[in-house]
Amino acid sequence: MRSQEIIAKKRDGEELSAGEINSFIDGICDGTWADYQISALLMAMFTRGLSIDEQDNLTRSMLHSGEVLDFSDIDAPKADKHSTGGVGDKTSLIIAPLVAACGVAVPMISGRGLGHTGGTLDKLEAIPGYNVNLSTGEFRKIIKKCGFAMAGQTAEIAPADKKIYALRDATATVPYIPLIVASIMSKKLAEGLDVLVLDVKTGSGAFMREFEDSKKLAEALVKTGMSFGVRTEAVISDMSQPLGRFVGNAHEVYECIKILKGEVDTLSQPTWVLSLELSARILVMAGVEPDIEAARELAQAALDNGSAFEKFRMNVECQNGDTQICDNPERLLDNSLIETKIVAMQSGFVSEIDTLAVGNAIVAIGGGRQKADDKIDHAVGFTCETNVTQKVNVGDTLGVLFCRSKEQADSVVSEMTAAFKISSENTQSTPQLIKEIIS
Ligand code: URA
Repeated sequence: MRSQEIIAKKRDGEELSAGEINSFIDGICDGTWADYQISALLMAMFTRGLSIDEQDNLTRSMLHSGEVLDFSDIDAPKADKHSTGGVGDKTSLIIAPLVAACGVAVPMISGRGLGHTGGTLDKLEAIPGYNVNLSTGEFRKIIKKCGFAMAGQTAEIAPADKKIYALRDATATVPYIPLIVASIMSKKLAEGLDVLVLDVKTGSGAFMREFEDSKKLAEALVKTGMSFGVRTEAVISDMSQPLGRFVGNAHEVYECIKILKGEVDTLSQPTWVLSLELSARILVMAGVEPDIEAARELAQAALDNGSAFEKFRMNVECQNGDTQICDNPERLLDNSLIETKIVAMQSGFVSEIDTLAVGNAIVAIGGGRQKADDKIDHAVGFTCETNVTQKVNVGDTLGVLFCRSKEQADSVVSEMTAAFKISSENTQSTPQLIKEIIS
């Protein structure tokens, strides 16, 4: 069938067959579909909708548009975690060594920061020398040696998604669940996993702000994972305030190393709690422990006895990073940065933190990208010193910005101050970190 006929069929609200969807994806990969034709079909899918069969066929076709990794020569169960993205969302750096220390192999393929949300690759590159550009052979060797490897997506993994995502971004067709599911799952299913845990964020700093939308996305992702033979669960977690204390690439690695060393301060506690929960879910699905309580205990023991930290150090060494940051994480923090306090303009209770505004401020001071090829400054960041419901007095420090210049700080100070809403009455309840498990 010609591309025009496939576009017309979806334009008219008909269901596309597996063959027609394959022809669309083949046309993207061999260049026979023009960008305007791909965009037209994406818009027709967005407005007319996709059935479950179409969504599964699209996922399958995108998955097989590239290489599907095979780690069957590694005896351990293979697992990964995927997050829909947030601010201060750094759990991958804790989960990978933690579950590796408990006998699960983690072939973790991560992304870069997207919009206001951070990306694991950018965080890892805050470690001097750390190499995220691994060949499949190197990736496999490192997993065999230390239980986990963390790398960027190669051009061979789900190449159709790269093209589709760029066109969705340019044609306002990103926020449609079947297209999101096909995009995320085609990449994750290409990792050759037995187990996948998804962290679906909800709240002001999330891709899906409303709980009901996050839940629908979580359910669709879990259903797709299961129907492709991967044991999959989703945790819907709070993104109505930054996760943990630190935001910004080097700062977030610092928080993770402190946690892995067993030095969890009160403000960083949510990072540990969520990491522990996601890890425990992996351990149960991987068959390492029979139930979630036993899995939590095993993961806690791997933190307490230092084995997770040792795995992390071994991985940094395997990926050419500077292992001195493991013994002395303060080396990650750049003392030449300018510190600017964000202070409360009135007394009362923190009723809301506009987490999107915090993420955008980090991008604006150079910690994220405005354009895909922008260079980022790994050192800049923010420490969040207050939580929703906390009582504050006028002049109290809500958080501290770490910028390269005073001009940079001045350009975001008023947005950052306004991001912390303070009300005279404490009307909010403490946001629940883990809202629901979808299994
Ligand atoms: N992340 C992805 O990888 N794809 C989407 O469509 C949305 C978020």
